Amino acid sequence: MNPSTPAADAALERAQTQVEASRSGQTPRPVVQGFFDEPTHTATFVVHDPMSRAAAVIDSVLDFDPASGALSFTAADRVIDYVRTEHLTVAWILETHVHADHLSAAPYLQGQLGGRLAIGRGIVAVQETFGKLFNAGTAFARTGAEFDRLFEDGDRFGLGGLEATALHVPGHTPADLAYVIGDAAFVGDTLFMPDYGTARADFPGGDARQLFRSIRRLLSLPDATRLFLCHDYKAPGRDRFVTETTVAAQRAGNVHVRDGTAEDDFVAMREARDRTLAAPRLIMPSIQVNMRGGRLPEPEENGTRYLKIPLTTGRG
Ligand SMILES: [Fe+2]
Repeated sequence: MNPSTPAADAALERAQTQVEASRSGQTPRPVVQGFFDEPTHTATFVVHDPMSRAAAVIDSVLDFDPASGALSFTAADRVIDYVRTEHLTVAWILETHVHADHLSAAPYLQGQLGGRLAIGRGIVAVQETFGKLFNAGTAFARTGAEFDRLFEDGDRFGLGGLEATALHVPGHTPADLAYVIGDAAFVGDTLFMPDYGTARADFPGGDARQLFRSIRRLLSLPDATRLFLCHDYKAPGRDRFVTETTVAAQRAGNVHVRDGTAEDDFVAMREARDRTLAAPRLIMPSIQVNMRGGRLPEPEENGTRYLKIPLTTGRG
């Protein structure tokens, strides 16, 4: 949905009201625990309602060594240990988008912890694009059927006694969602820390202008909204990873989109910067797996699963 439509504005207003209710104590304040995966610079979050102990896991990581093809579960097992130690009940396993830099552990977590797997409705368009790229054939339905729920802009969902709203924030990819849960917004790959800026917008279906508008929409949430980021890369001069900030901090100091930044200036900067960026190290494995909700390709007749790499040549 276009974020400038009245329905989308109503969605934002609901999210604003929800954040205020959580900040003022009318509704519970969610507890958020982050898990940073250094090899992929990805933050996974477990968010829970302190009263009911209902929880959601957002943007999980499956360890993958592309040289050997070895998959492992160290990062996911840390999340599972935390959920069990804290006696949480997982209601949702959420993805902000089809990641291009790490494999999702969603099916593994769902098998261990339960919960419903969800992503944005735009996944269908992303599946269409990448189904073609990987020549996935008719066995890959491209209907989002790998997920238990596809959220639209403004959809509300429960997490115990917490209120939650999905906001469609396209730009990095066409399907990106931000999940606003109580006073905490999980913004995926839109914003990074204020000293690092914003996510790239040059993947298929990405759009710098859309990204700017999505970010300004997120920055219309109340100043005190806690923002949780999917990645951190340490800005120059900072020696530790940080993945939590606030709307106020982003509006005052984000090096790409602080208040007063003109949309056209952002678009020119973002597009110029994106032209200098290499493809992410794990883009081919990540997309192939994540477009299927984190499920691996079916085994071949020898029982082994394989990933594909489409080859291109610079020569015409
Ligand atoms: Fe991403």
